[in-house]
Amino acid sequence: MAGIRADDTPAAARVVMMPLPFQGNLTPMLQLAGALHARGLAVTVLHTTPFNAPDPARHPRLAFVPVAVDVPEAVAGSEDNMTKVFDLNAALDASGCLRDALASLLDEKEARRPACLVTDAAFPAAQKAAMDLGLPWLVLNTCSAAAFRLFMSYHILYGNGYLPKRESNLCLPVKELPPLQVRDLFDPSELPNQENVQKIMNLWNQTKMNSGTIINTFEDLEGPELEMIQGEVTDNGTLAFNIGPLHKLSPIDGTKTSLLEEDCSCIEWLDTQAPCSVLYVSFGSLAQLTQDEFTEIAWGLANSEKPFLWVVRRGLVLGVEKPELPEGFERALLEGRGKVVEWAPQQKVLAHSAMGGFWTHNGWNSTLESIYEGVPMVSRPIFGDQFATGRYVEAVWKIGFLLEGMLERRKIERVIQRLMVEKEGLEARERAKDLKEKAIMCLESNGSSQMVLDNLVHHILSL
Ligand code: UDX
Repeated sequence: MAGIRADDTPAAARVVMMPLPFQGNLTPMLQLAGALHARGLAVTVLHTTPFNAPDPARHPRLAFVPVAVDVPEAVAGSEDNMTKVFDLNAALDASGCLRDALASLLDEKEARRPACLVTDAAFPAAQKAAMDLGLPWLVLNTCSAAAFRLFMSYHILYGNGYLPKRESNLCLPVKELPPLQVRDLFDPSELPNQENVQKIMNLWNQTKMNSGTIINTFEDLEGPELEMIQGEVTDNGTLAFNIGPLHKLSPIDGTKTSLLEEDCSCIEWLDTQAPCSVLYVSFGSLAQLTQDEFTEIAWGLANSEKPFLWVVRRGLVLGVEKPELPEGFERALLEGRGKVVEWAPQQKVLAHSAMGGFWTHNGWNSTLESIYEGVPMVSRPIFGDQFATGRYVEAVWKIGFLLEGMLERRKIERVIQRLMVEKEGLEARERAKDLKEKAIMCLESNGSSQMVLDNLVHHILSL
């Protein structure tokens, strides 16, 4: 059905999609919008503006409705990413703007009325707006199935004494969520604002009341986790839909959803590098490093003597608008061995034949993009779901190595050597290639993700 222009088809059922306005959440939501549209549904994207607004000109087949939002200072400036999400939700909930925008779409004449809302699992303000208006709603979970299970288990984690974390229990296995250890859990009690502990419990309790949970993962990657979710997550017997990797299932690629301008000169630079030789280093759109960590990374890369491509985006270093590379570091760049950009066309980078490894924070989009290209990883989780994903990369899929503890240049050189040169790194690459084959199979016309997408469309049409 690919290529149908749903907006030209008056009889097409309409879905409203409300992304949480951060890059890592916006991208998979737009990709899902593209996938649903390609299956014959009409899609309206309700989005915040000017804060992290997508560019409608890049998506001519989707309809866009902007919701003007005064983003609180705290969201734009906060150094804690989970606090950002809570504060934005609170501000949008209090202003009623999402509810009003959704209500006006429900007032449309019958043929254009939406059948449901699809919103982010971490966007309770949008979920509440749909509930207030009696509109069925589904959630898109933008992290792994394993991390979703973890977030759904906070009552157990507090009830069974794993949380709040203590120095003495950090290495304890969480027997309800193997192979996670206590140190892999995101602990809301560590957030600056203690009210957020209760908020996170409420958030996931509310999320359970949905009419369907869409998960950006695939069966051969997280089959056991998906099975458990199917049995335990939703209160009302509704379904979980695994339709990943979305960036390949959807006709919408990363370039169309990027909020920042991509520096494509890095592709020309990659063209000059030997096959499987380059380490790509990027920590996504939100994660931040201390100045010391940044300096250690710079010297670790320079001393590794391996070619590297490093994304140093604005705001990467805490309290600094434009991070400055340490004095003397340019030598590694001038020798042609390294390249630094502010933002890369990441999917193209990972697909490049020069790609040898990815040092990542294990944001879920980056992890899936890496898996799809068969690129092994150095995992350095920084916040939220990333710790659970890092553990899976090392312990379950065995396609990379966790870099834990203090960042120190010698440790960095060592892990680069393990990944890029040593036998265990080559074995990780082989396993990553196997997973790539499995991801490709899930996306074939009779593959599991395609079939689940069909089921999802039928489910939406039945609401
Ligand atoms: C976050 C979380 O980490 C993630 O797990 C969560 O579920 C959603 O939000 P973020 O930290 O930004 O997102 O990481 P990630 O999920 O990896 O998303 C980053 C996106 O930006 C990826 O799609 C990546 O391709 C893109 N990107 C990153 C670029 O296009 N260029 C870059 O230079 C860096």
